[in-house]
Formats: sequence, C-alpha cells, structure tokens
Amino acid sequence: MTLEAVRALLPGARSIAVLTGAGISAESGVPTFRGPGGLWRDFRPEDLATAEAFANDPRLVWEWYDWRRQKIAAAKPNLGHYALVTLEKRAPELTLITQNVDGLHPLAGSRNLLEIHGNLWRTRCLSCRKVRDSREAPLARIPPRCPCEGLLRPDVVWFGEPLPYDLLKRAIRCVEACDLMLVVGTSGLVQPAASMADAALDRGVPVVEINLDPTPLSGRASYVLQGKAGEILPKLL
Ligand code: OAD
Repeated sequence: MTLEAVRALLPGARSIAVLTGAGISAESGVPTFRGPGGLWRDFRPEDLATAEAFANDPRLVWEWYDWRRQKIAAAKPNLGHYALVTLEKRAPELTLITQNVDGLHPLAGSRNLLEIHGNLWRTRCLSCRKVRDSREAPLARIPPRCPCEGLLRPDVVWFGEPLPYDLLKRAIRCVEACDLMLVVGTSGLVQPAASMADAALDRGVPVVEINLDPTPLSGRASYVLQGKAGEILPKLL
C-alpha cells in the first residue's frame, strides 16, 4: 500500500529531487561499495578512494579503478535508470543528483543530472590539470599518463576532498526547492549527500526511500519502499 501512496504523490509533484547511490546500478552488475562483492582485494573503498592512497601508490589505486571501469564497460543501464528517465520526461521539473561515477544515468538518457562525485570515464592530469574523456578499459598503461607526461587521476571526488562547488550549490538549491524527494540505493553514510534528505524533511517535504535494506534514513523517511530499485521504480510510473 505504501507503493500506492507514493504513486499517488507523483502526478502532483512540481519539482522532484532524486538522489541515487550505488544500489541503483547493482542490478546492472556494478558492485556496490559496502555490500557483498563490494570489496576489491580486501581493501575498503575508504582506503583506496583518497588522495593519500593515490600519492602512496598510484598503481594500486588505478588497478582498482581499472577493475571497476572494466565491470562498468560491460554493464548496461537497468529498468531503474530508465524509470528515472521516464519520470524526468513526465515531471514538470526533476533533478537527478547521483553519487555514482559509473556514467549509467547519462547513458540511460537522464538529462538534468548532477554527478556530484564525478565520473570515472574522465581523467584529470595532476600537472597540466586538463580533464579528458577516456573510455579505455582495460588500461594499456597503469598508472596512465597525460601527453604532457603528468600523472593522470580519475576525475572523481575522493574522501576528504570537497565536492565541486558549483555542483554542490545546484544540488542543495534543488533539494531546497523540491516538493518531493526520492532517495534510491544509497547507504546514506557519505556526506554531504547523506544530509540532503534532511534538508527536504525539515521543510515537511515527503521523502521516499527506495532501498534493498534499511539505512540510517529509514527511520526518518516519510515512506520506505524496501526492495530492488529496478523493480520498484518502474512500478511507480
Ligand atoms: P553503498 O555501497 O554504500 O550503498 C549501496 C546501497 O544500495 C545499500 O544501502 C544497499 O542496501 C543498496 N542496494 C543494493 N542493491 C540495491 C538494489 N538493487 N536496489 C536498491 N538498493 C540497493 O553506496 P553509496 O551509498 O552510493 O564515494 O556510497 C556512497 C559513496 O561512498 C560512493 O559514491 C563512493 C563510496 O565510497 C566515493 O568514492 C567518494
């Protein structure tokens, strides 16, 4: 019945904010960070996705990204990604804020999209700072180098690094203006994304959580739809 209640909210919503995390790509075969199969060679993401880890061992960090890029290269968007594209077309205004760096939302066709943690199909040179698209997977050379011979890093946000200011500002603005928020497939453990639902809840805006498992948000969310995003999101349309 919760599903019916949430479905009834959608036609009246003028401005929808959607926040997604790794769970929405799980059904595409992309490992989440903290669930089963999320670990890579016994490393925790917090130990690899940092500037310190990269400075200590760029090869190790790039081997992890190369592994993820290969998995993602073989993946396709799933029904959850496509349901959000349909919702964007139907809603007067929808902004999709994603913590995912896999590029599956843009591949599915989402347009009004804020990739607040970056995109692992881009590289950034530590010397000349140039950002480039790079679809090579597996990488021929690890760590990869820029034509200027500078060291390349993935153009993603690591733990301890600030989010790109403009993207963060736009994400906050949209959460502060929305009249419905969906939070899909995120454990809600990483800031500032983890607090975004509270900004909506504080204004009395309904927040719907869609997740396979309970999270710290579950107790506060207005509605909790427990299950797979790829099954629940299409049912809402
Ligand atoms: P997590 O791996 O922490 O959480 C994934 C969430 O998805 C969990 O709550 C699962 O219960 C849920 N889940 C799994 N399969 C699902 C499915 N089929 N349908 C719905 N939900 C499902 O991933 P994130 O919350 O995205 O940051 O992690 C946040 C950030 O931490 C990432 O962006 C990344 C990571 O380290 C950086 O790399 C900076």
